[in-house]
Formats: sequence, C-alpha cells, structure tokens
Amino acid sequence: MMTIQENISLQPYNTFGVATNTHFFTEITNVEELKSALTFAKEKELPLLLLGGGSNILLTKDFEGLAIKLSLKGISTQENDENSVLVTAEAGENWHQFVLWCLDHQYGGLENLSLIPGNVGTSPMQNIGAYGTEIKDTFFECTALNIETFNIETFNKEQCQFGYRESFFKREGKNKYVILNVTFQLTTQHHKTSVEYGAIQSELEEMGISTPTIQDISNAVIRIRQSKLPDPKLIGNAGSFFKNPVIPTSLYETLKQKFENMPAYPNGEFTKVPAGWLIEHSGWKGKQIGNVASHAKQALVIINATGEASGQEIFDFSTQIIDSVKSQYSIELEREVNII
Ligand code: EPU
Repeated sequence: MMTIQENISLQPYNTFGVATNTHFFTEITNVEELKSALTFAKEKELPLLLLGGGSNILLTKDFEGLAIKLSLKGISTQENDENSVLVTAEAGENWHQFVLWCLDHQYGGLENLSLIPGNVGTSPMQNIGAYGTEIKDTFFECTALNIETFNIETFNKEQCQFGYRESFFKREGKNKYVILNVTFQLTTQHHKTSVEYGAIQSELEEMGISTPTIQDISNAVIRIRQSKLPDPKLIGNAGSFFKNPVIPTSLYETLKQKFENMPAYPNGEFTKVPAGWLIEHSGWKGKQIGNVASHAKQALVIINATGEASGQEIFDFSTQIIDSVKSQYSIELEREVNII
C-alpha cells in the first residue's frame, strides 16, 4: 500500500545533507505503488522529484510537489553465452553493493566503478564512469515506466544515446520515464580488465600486484577513491560538482602557451580539460566560504563543510567558481549535479 506523507524533510535523501522539505513524499517498493503515486501527482498537478540515492542533486529550496523515493529491490541473472551473463538489478539497489555482489559471483566488468555513490536506477541517466570505464561499456538494456502512458518500455544501448555524463534520459527523455531496472552484460571468465588509468596502475604497483584479478582492481579503485573523495556519510557532497569541460582544440592550443602545465586529453577537434585543475589553479582548492568549501584533496568536489550549508549557499559558491574559472581561462564550467 502506498502512503503519502506531508511536509517531510529531504535531508536523509540527499548526500549533500541539505535540509529542505517536500510538500508530499512517498516511498515505493513496487511498480503498482509507483503508478499510484504518479496518479496522485497527476490528479493534483504536482511536479515530481524522483529520488534514487540522492547523490547527484542539489536542493536549493523547499519542493512544492511529490517526492518519490524509488526503493525497488532485487538482482537476477540470466545465462547469455559461455563467457557472459546478463545481470539485472532493480533501480533501488545501491550501486556499490551491486558491484560487490557481482564481484562475489566472479562477474567482471563493473570493478572500475566500485564505490560510486548512488543507486542502480540512476546509473544510465548520466552514464556513470570512473577510472577508464563507463557503464555504457557493460550496459545491455534498461526498462523504464513511461510517466504519461504507464507503458513499460525497454531501451537498448543505442537508444540510450550514451555520451560523457550524458544520455537520452537527461535530454529528450527527461522527466518522461522512471527507470525500473538495468541489465548489464558481464563476463564470467576471461575478464577484460581495464587498468590503463594512471592512478590504478600506481595503486596496483603499490599493492605489489602485477596480474590483477577483478577483486584487486576493485580494491585499488576503493583505495584511490577513499584517499581523495570525501565519504558522503561523513561530509556532505555529490561527487564531481562540474563536468570536465570539452573545449575546441584551438582554444586549448592558445591556453597552453600561457599555462604550460595544464593537463588535457585532446581528441581531434575537441579537447577535454580537467575541471579540478582549472578550479585548483583559480585558487579555490580547499577554500571555504561560510558553510561551503572546495574539497582539499579534489577541487572538483564541493562539500557541505559544516553540515549546515543550505542548497542556495552551495549553488552560490559554485557560481563563484564558474566566474573565476571563466575570467582566468575563458572556459565556462557546466554543473554536473542536478539543481532542484
Ligand atoms: N586535478 C587537479 N587538481 C584537483 C583535482 C584534479 O589538478 O584538485 C587534476 C589531476 O592532477 C589530474 C586531472 O585533474 O591531472 C584528473 O583528475 P582525477 O583523475 O582525479 O579525475 P577527474 O577528471 O577530476 C573524473 C570524474 C570522477 C572520476 C574520476 C576518475 C568527472 C566529472 N569526474 O574526475 O567522477 O571518479 O575522473 O575516473 O568526469 C563523479 O562523477 O562524481 C566522479 C567522482
């Protein structure tokens, strides 16, 4: 049975730990409850806020609509071929717990994505990625409920139109679907490991491992993340606050003359530049204003330093970073976190 609550604090439901309220709130554990909740919102003409792990949102004000916490649970498998298996996880499964479950079953492909905050259901939205892999590398399909028609639709990899922190669900499909579950094609043997990323190589070396198993890679990633990213349970944050900007290579060539040490990943006409470097070299790394700061070990992460920050304060802090980077480098940073 779906129950709707009123005037609920969203503080436990966002990893920034921002204290705002929602007018209406419900938690759903199956598709029927989800449909009832959506019907309630439609009848009352309420805006919707779909809550996964709350690790990619910034709540800047009270929400005058219906917030739905998606708690669909379960993991199932289906044999695919002699070297792979299809693993389906429901949207409300915690991402990292799911990765650990796959490792326990000796399924390879998600190990580089260990310890990413959030839930499985939001992973296709922004094509989560880290340390040389993205979910598009192992994604098979996902099913989603069409909010308008209540049909359940299946999206294959192509239909999801994955890009760097991008997908159909962030563009044309925005606010039109609720992702119900995601299926990955994972290897059962002959794992194709990806250890080219510099930080993984040095971490494995430090661990004294030359032929890493998928568990070793996961452990290396966990160690790297723990060493520079703040644990949202202890310090409120939403991971990378901005995307790494992709700029015309011609602009990069000009900038390089002035800023010789600027790291960059050229790719033909366009070049990706690490936002963390730009922010650090605009003087923001570790800087705190009021309750908000740029993380001292990774400038790309904005933190709720005192635990008392409001969403508006965090938003204003991010605007100041955008302005500084723009005036120094002529590059306009884009927020990766969804502003509500
Ligand atoms: N850098 C700095 N100063 C900083 C931070 C980074 O100079 O304060 C430089 C580093 O020296 C390095 C470069 O920036 O040359 C890249 O840094 P890093 O390897 O830490 O990765 P990132 O580009 O900052 C991206 C993802 C992370 C992901 C890591 C590892 C985005 C927006 N972020 O960060 O994803 O974990 O790569 O693959 O693409 C997230 O999305 O929440 C997230 C944490």
